[in-house]
Amino acid sequence: MKDYKTVVLSNQEISPGYFRMRLLAPGAEEMVRAGQFVMLRVGRDLAPLLRRPFGVFRTGFLPPDCEGLPPKEYIELLYKVVGRGTATMSALHEGDQVELMAPLGKGFDLGAPGGQSILVGGGIGLVPLFLLAAELAKTGRVNLLIGVRTRDDIIAVTEFERLGVETYVSTEDGSLGEQGLVTRVLQSKLDEEPGAGVYACGPMPMLEAVHSICADRGVPLQVSLEALMACGVGACLGCVVKGAGHSEGKPRFLCTCKEGPVFRAEQLDWSRIGQEEGYCEGCRS
Ligand SMILES: Cc1cc2nc3c(=O)[nH]c(=O)nc-3n(C[C@H](O)[C@H](O)[C@H](O)COP(=O)(O)OP(=O)(O)OC[C@H]3O[C@@H](n4cnc5c(N)ncnc54)[C@H](O)[C@@H]3O)c2cc1C
Ligand code: FES
Repeated sequence: MKDYKTVVLSNQEISPGYFRMRLLAPGAEEMVRAGQFVMLRVGRDLAPLLRRPFGVFRTGFLPPDCEGLPPKEYIELLYKVVGRGTATMSALHEGDQVELMAPLGKGFDLGAPGGQSILVGGGIGLVPLFLLAAELAKTGRVNLLIGVRTRDDIIAVTEFERLGVETYVSTEDGSLGEQGLVTRVLQSKLDEEPGAGVYACGPMPMLEAVHSICADRGVPLQVSLEALMACGVGACLGCVVKGAGHSEGKPRFLCTCKEGPVFRAEQLDWSRIGQEEGYCEGCRS
């Protein structure tokens, strides 16, 4: 893990309320594994004080400004503006300075090469699935199922398709693709491919539904959790979730930032997930 003071290379709105940001990050390609995340401090002043967590969409290289210089290595983030931190981020421009800790957490277990994988992304939860898709598509067949509210929430689909990934879109309002929830598409895909492994990231209710479908069928599932975070490095315990086997007498907590954000479904206590209190949101400044 590195703690960088770095600069914004670009920051563009790609769909209403959704942005793509590239940050200079030497050594990123070598270090970042699919599913890992970064903590970004976006404000130069005290507000917002805490860094915000973001999945790494991909890493890459830009040509140098002058001949003889090395190419510029970057980390690319895709983010949705939801509050103060992301609104501040959206106003950053090329050359602005930010503080970045990267890479953090445990990523996806790629398992044995080959075979069929089904990736399920709910909204902006699609972000950590790109590096995963790139790895899995090298040796196996990959389907990506995207579930969003409406067509404006669909981002980066063509980039997945360029990897050779077969994509299916479902929108709740029927404005693009199949109307309804992505979990319905997952059920029919699993009917066709009962031996597939499933990887998911998105809102907690979606993950609970994906877990229930996979558990009923005995399908292996890995989930990436987007818990609220404050420190991102295991110090504040603000991001804990209850693990499988947790009880009052024998508490078993898992730290999403250090032991996750990716977990095998059987590591988690699904009866309690989504009911975590977390830290006080008022403290998140
Ligand atoms: C490991 C990880 C990876 C993430 N990757 C991405 C990503 O790639 N792209 C992206 O856009 N977002 C991602 N998020 C969520 C992102 O961190 C939050 O949207 C961001 O911190 C919000 O900051 P804010 O100051 O704008 O909002 P705040 O003012 O802090 O909150 C605004 C609203 O958003 C809700 N919110 C804040 N954080 C989260 C969260 N983690 N999950 C669900 N709701 C939240 C709050 O409850 C509140 O309703 C990720 C989160 C985690 C933990
Ligand atoms: S965010 Fe502080 S311990 Fe995970």
